[in-house]
Amino acid sequence: MRVLSGIQPSGSLHLGNYFGMMKKMVDYQEHHELFCFIANYHAMTSVTDGKALAKGTLEAAANFLALGLDPEKSVFWVQSDVPEVQELTWALSNFTPMGLLERCHSYKDKVAKGIAPNHGLFAYPVLMAADILLFGGELVPVGKDQKQHLEVARDIAIKFNNQYGDVMVIPEPDIDDELATIPGLDGQKMSKSYKNTIDLFLDDKALRKQVMRIVTDPTPVEDPKNPDTCNVFQIYRLFLDKQQEQALRQRYLAGGLGYGEVKQELFETVRDFFAPYTRRREELLADKEQLRKILAEGAQKARYAASKILRKVRKKTGLVY
Ligand code: TYM
Repeated sequence: MRVLSGIQPSGSLHLGNYFGMMKKMVDYQEHHELFCFIANYHAMTSVTDGKALAKGTLEAAANFLALGLDPEKSVFWVQSDVPEVQELTWALSNFTPMGLLERCHSYKDKVAKGIAPNHGLFAYPVLMAADILLFGGELVPVGKDQKQHLEVARDIAIKFNNQYGDVMVIPEPDIDDELATIPGLDGQKMSKSYKNTIDLFLDDKALRKQVMRIVTDPTPVEDPKNPDTCNVFQIYRLFLDKQQEQALRQRYLAGGLGYGEVKQELFETVRDFFAPYTRRREELLADKEQLRKILAEGAQKARYAASKILRKVRKKTGLVY
């Protein structure tokens, strides 16, 4: 099974990215053919400072490697190092009804927020379809916020195949019910744009500050509390096995557990969980030439895989004359 997904290099990583997608990708590399990339073309829809994009791209690569992605066991590259994806985007654009893009929530949300939409933002899902279809991705691990984009990719692939035969593999989303939407500090979806994230790779002071900001209800310390409506519990459980989760649940129900106390425990848990990854990330970022070398090798493997499908596309569409 070929598993494929990507992440934008725009800014810091949070627990939603980690549990919604990155951890799953790292797990998949053991038993599947894993394709993983840094979506820097996509980030151009929001980052217009070139230096920041370049820096963010290298950092995003270091993040994934630090979290355990093994470039020997996977194909790991930066999107723009395989510019063939733009050629496929154009071919697919001709099978993308306007209405399909006009219905996309992430586009509509941005417009509703007052962002003046440009063509890049509008066509974002077509590039995303090309990312997947260029490599024959069969299973695509993503959070729920990307579900509609996956449906668009499937629609485009089906339309293309209806015209030209079985060229495209139809991808399946891989969305885990429990991890589909990791909640943020306020219980809404954890997202940079809601400013409700717990970020990875922070120093202790900054991490503690974020954890302490988790919104809780005013139930007095001595009273029993409902874990299912508690934002601290909902985040804490990501780090616990079933038995540990049950034990914490009991402490909530028994009363006498203060939110300050449980937040402090959560802070220590998050800190200890990511500490080794943070150290590894620093080592990786200390040798940028080595990082670039890893990415160049990954791009070579990715281009080889892409060339096979693109050759078919060029032939079928009549670009080979
Ligand atoms: P991006 O960079 O916004 O996010 C990376 C991944 O993290 C997931 N995620 C979450 N999952 C659960 N709960 C949350 N609160 C949460 N927040 C973020 C996202 O769903 C995503 O899986 N368009 C994509 C990148 C992309 C891509 C692709 C993905 C470009 N081409 C091709 C798959 C296949 C994006 O912006 O993800």
